Amino acid sequence: MTENQHDPLASFPGFPRGWFVIQFSDELKPGDVKPLRYFGKDLVLFRTESGRPAILDAYCPHLGAHLGYGGKIKGESIECPFHAWRFDCEGSCVDVPYAKMIPRKAKIATWPIEEKNGMIYVWHDTDRHGPDWEVPEIEEYSEDRYLKWNHSVLEIATHPREIVENLVDKGHFLPVHGTKAEKFRNEYHGHIGIQYNEGVAYPLGGGEDHYKLTATYFGPAYMVTEMKGVLESIIINAHTPIDERKLHLRFAVSLKHDGAVERTEKFVDQYIDNLRRGYLQDVAIWENKTFQERPILCDGDGDIGGLRRWYRQFYAPRDPVGREAAE
Ligand code: FES
Ligand SMILES: [Fe+2]
Repeated sequence: MTENQHDPLASFPGFPRGWFVIQFSDELKPGDVKPLRYFGKDLVLFRTESGRPAILDAYCPHLGAHLGYGGKIKGESIECPFHAWRFDCEGSCVDVPYAKMIPRKAKIATWPIEEKNGMIYVWHDTDRHGPDWEVPEIEEYSEDRYLKWNHSVLEIATHPREIVENLVDKGHFLPVHGTKAEKFRNEYHGHIGIQYNEGVAYPLGGGEDHYKLTATYFGPAYMVTEMKGVLESIIINAHTPIDERKLHLRFAVSLKHDGAVERTEKFVDQYIDNLRRGYLQDVAIWENKTFQERPILCDGDGDIGGLRRWYRQFYAPRDPVGREAAE
C-alpha cells in the first residue's frame, strides 16, 4: 500500500451488522453438512432430516474437530466426526455415546438463521446481539408467474463498502456498464436504502432497452431489485464477507413469464450471463481501486456522503450519531 492510499478497514472496521445470504435453499438438502468461512470465522452449516437449517461455530468443544469436515446428520442433530458427540440446532450437546453424563459446558455457539424467499440468511453482529429487523417476504417469489431463482456466485477481493457504494454512484453507469441513467435518486429509511433508476441500456447485440428499476438494500448487504424492461424480473444481489479482504457476491434472477414458461426460460441463462458480465465490469474496478476517504466530488455525482452515513450505522458501535460526533 503506497502512502497516499488509505486503508479502507480504518473507517469501516470489522464486519457490519445485518442479515447476509449464505446459501440458496436448493443448495442445502436434508442431511447436508457444509464447512463455511464467513466474517473471518470457521462455521458449519447443516440441514437436519426434518429440513431445518442451522449454523454453528465450526469447532467441537470436546477436542476441536471441525464439524463441517465429516460431521453427519443424525435426525435433528449433527454428529462430530472425531468421537461422535452430537449437537442439536441450538448447539447443545445431546449425546456422548461413551459417557454416563453430558458435560454441562458442552455447547457450541449458534448463529441466528432464517430461511425465506428460497434463501438462507444468517444474522451477523460482532456483539452477538439478536436481529434488529426481519428479512422481508418477496411476494413475487411465491407467485407462479415468476420462475424459480437462477443463481450464481463470485468471489471478489474487495471491501463490502465498495459494493454498497454502487447504490448511489450514478456517474459509473455509462462508463462501466454502458447504461444511461436518465432519472436517478436515492432514499434512506432506517436500515433501508433505495435507488430509483430509469434509463436506457445498450445491449451487446445492438438496439436500446428502456428500463425502470427500484433497488432496495435491506440492511448492509442484501439488495432486492424490481426491474421493468423488455422483461420483468426480481434480481437479488447479496454479498457476504469471507474475511476483511474478500467476499462472496451472490446474484440471482427470477423472470416473470406471461404463460409461455419455456420461452421465458430460454432467456434466463442469457439474463444471468448478462448480470455476471455487469458485475465483472464492476469487479475490475473494485479489485484494483483505493478508498478515497474524502473524495473530490462534482454536482453530477450521486449521494456518496449520504450513502456512507447510512452504511456506517451497521458498524459497531451501534450509535452512528455518537460515532460521527467523535470523528
Ligand atoms: S472432538 Fe468432537 S467429539 Fe471429540
Ligand atoms: Fe456497477
